[in-house]
Amino acid sequence: MMNKVLFLVAVIVAVMASSVKAFTLNMMSGRKPLMGGNWKLNPQTTKDATSLATEFAKKVKGKTDVDIVIFPPHPFLFPVYEKVEATNVQMGGQNCFFESDGAYTGAVSTCMLQDVGVKYVLCGHSERRCVFKDDDTAIARKVKKVIKQGMNAVLCFGETQEEYEAGLNHEVCAIQLLKDLSMVTPEEMSQVVLAYEPVWAIGTGLVCPADVAQEVHQFCRSVIAKKYGQAIADKVIIQYGGSVKPENVKEIMSQPDIDGCLVGGASLTADSFAKIVHFNDQ
Ligand code: PGA
Repeated sequence: MMNKVLFLVAVIVAVMASSVKAFTLNMMSGRKPLMGGNWKLNPQTTKDATSLATEFAKKVKGKTDVDIVIFPPHPFLFPVYEKVEATNVQMGGQNCFFESDGAYTGAVSTCMLQDVGVKYVLCGHSERRCVFKDDDTAIARKVKKVIKQGMNAVLCFGETQEEYEAGLNHEVCAIQLLKDLSMVTPEEMSQVVLAYEPVWAIGTGLVCPADVAQEVHQFCRSVIAKKYGQAIADKVIIQYGGSVKPENVKEIMSQPDIDGCLVGGASLTADSFAKIVHFNDQ
């Protein structure tokens, strides 16, 4: 009986030690985890958007060891901002244009985004690349414009299923990173967050195995090290995105080069996104 109890205690201590170790690894690197909720084209009304934000903010109140940002659709940015302004939930924009003003019907400028409380802007999300045909030249200009505006650019990149199956994930990521960061100086890298999002894992329920994601993140950090030096590479936050859920977030976040998650579907309910943000609490 005593042996059994001792064994159980040993197992519990080992499990706790391994999750504390993974978390402290990231903390030791000085990279504070960043969790983002990308709402995409959801929800459909201001009322639903503000209640989602309010409910979520309540559930993550006081959580300060993780940075938190939500990316509502543009028409809901200001009403949502009013609800979360005094909380630890920061605001993000899903897209912007690289020109400041003028005759660009349908476009949204970085100044407009900043004026409604936005601190982070997604650039190069795969849906923008595929559906709206944003190319690397446009994405590079958007990244630069966001930085110039004094906000943080979240540069999304990643390979398609075909490219993954052909074993080209490293090449594709390196090309996208180098093209999209072509206008960014070393000093400006403190305003850049990277988000590795394998296209085949977005909204499909297919999660990139944590060890594969880790290996790509490590590779991408080495690409940044070559371009900007090791010190900058060690500081840059690299998020993982693609079917992140409360059930798999812990394993993903236990990888040393994964510094956060960009969450789509699971950020649309306050409960599941709050569980993701609290990944290191149990
Ligand atoms: P998902 O989307 O979590 O629904 O796969 C992630 C994203 O597109 O950022």
